[in-house]
Amino acid sequence: MKHSIIVVEDEKIVRISLADALTAEGYTVLAVPTCAEALAALGEGAFSLVITDVRLPDGNGIEILQRIMERGDNSSVIVMTAFGTIEDAVKAMRLGAYNYITKPFSLEAMLLVVKRALDHQDAAATNVRLRKELSSCYCPFPNMIGESSAMHKVFSLLARVARTDSTVLITGESGTGKELVASSIHYQSDRKDKPLVRVNCAALPDTLIEAELFGHEKGAFTGAEVRKLGRFELADGGTIFLDEIGDLPLLTQTKILRVIEERTLERLGGGANTLKVDVRVLAATNKELAEEVRQGRFREDLFYRLNVIPVEMPPLRKRSEDIPLLVEKFAKRCNDRFGTTRSFDPQAIEALMRYSFPGNVRELQNIVERCIALTETEIIGRADLPAHIRGDMGRQSALLPLAEVVGEAERAHIEKILRITSGNRSKAADLLGISRKTLWEKINSHKLKV
Ligand SMILES: Nc1ncnc2c1ncn2[C@@H]1O[C@H](COP(=O)(O)OP(=O)(O)OP(=O)(O)O)[C@@H](O)[C@H]1O
Ligand SMILES: [Mg+2]
Repeated sequence: MKHSIIVVEDEKIVRISLADALTAEGYTVLAVPTCAEALAALGEGAFSLVITDVRLPDGNGIEILQRIMERGDNSSVIVMTAFGTIEDAVKAMRLGAYNYITKPFSLEAMLLVVKRALDHQDAAATNVRLRKELSSCYCPFPNMIGESSAMHKVFSLLARVARTDSTVLITGESGTGKELVASSIHYQSDRKDKPLVRVNCAALPDTLIEAELFGHEKGAFTGAEVRKLGRFELADGGTIFLDEIGDLPLLTQTKILRVIEERTLERLGGGANTLKVDVRVLAATNKELAEEVRQGRFREDLFYRLNVIPVEMPPLRKRSEDIPLLVEKFAKRCNDRFGTTRSFDPQAIEALMRYSFPGNVRELQNIVERCIALTETEIIGRADLPAHIRGDMGRQSALLPLAEVVGEAERAHIEKILRITSGNRSKAADLLGISRKTLWEKINSHKLKV
């Protein structure tokens, strides 16, 4: 398709040479000298690209940009600013301009920026189309967002697992959605009308955990003033979700193994009075349980009992194609809550897709919420993202304070060297030409994970 471009520029010589150069490249071009004419033309029809000067005789290019953003056209905007008016450029970028170029510029430089903007637009349009096609696929877990092939595999496994009564071990890094998976399985299973009881094994002190799990009779120990039902009993007929199971003390692991094998238990202080429970067991951990078994911290027999059906949640950095959709859904939820209508521009999404997300989906969700709450413009651009995510050395870094740019370059370089040395700090320090102590301090100050 032939792209149409509108050029808004009052200086005749710039306007005409730009229009000629763009026409020669095969674009359909309309060139106008005033804000009023530009707005009129935009009212008539859409353009793929708008190239506008900021200071115009009858108004301001920023108004044109705002108008386009309000209408939600798919047009990209490139702003031309005179040398020394960098604030205009910053403002334009914040409002959602694709890029800016400072005058005077060469025609080649402008043609390059134009080509990039239009290529980018074509790629975005393809993405939208593919996404529409994919989202029409059947997804049995409406709360779980994902369209990557990795997530499709998870969905298809969950759909099959939910129908059975098997024990499931859900693994994955922090924030990948393990708890969400557990509740999806329960609410898709035949036990959905019965309770789903979660136990956070890491949050309970060792002294209390057995009383919590198995309950106790009145007077079983000091402080046990009334009889208390345990979580297994509370889950009777339904599902128990043993979260962070890698943190269970060994002794409690033995007792849980028995409940899983025999579906019977005794309350503390209940003597030989054995109770039968009908529960489905789901467990989750972000630890490498096989390794915990090798280290003697986790019972091998319990590991095999739990690992009947393993569900492994992929980290977000391995499915960055899910990020645009996750951002869109999280932004919508936030907007509904705050009564706002803010959205992320393509550059911001691109920056998010390049970030590694050690905290996975939870981290992304927090970032989206924070940006929507703190940004004052309708369109959230890359400049509005937290500094460690913006993390690029590209064009916009020209607008950042020096310390931030230098700090980011340092962080990225140390991270790269540590990857090359597979985390060996002595080698890394040698390569970097700094002492191990300095490296250690920098790792800490940049919060690098090694
Ligand atoms: N695929 C997804 N779609 C939508 N929201 C998700 C998805 N995955 C995770 N989330 C959201 O991210 C947050 C973290 O998810 P969850 O608590 O399930 O992670 P987790 O793996 O249990 O983390 P941790 O190991 O830290 O306990 C939740 O608010 C959850 O709703
Ligand atoms: Mg969890």
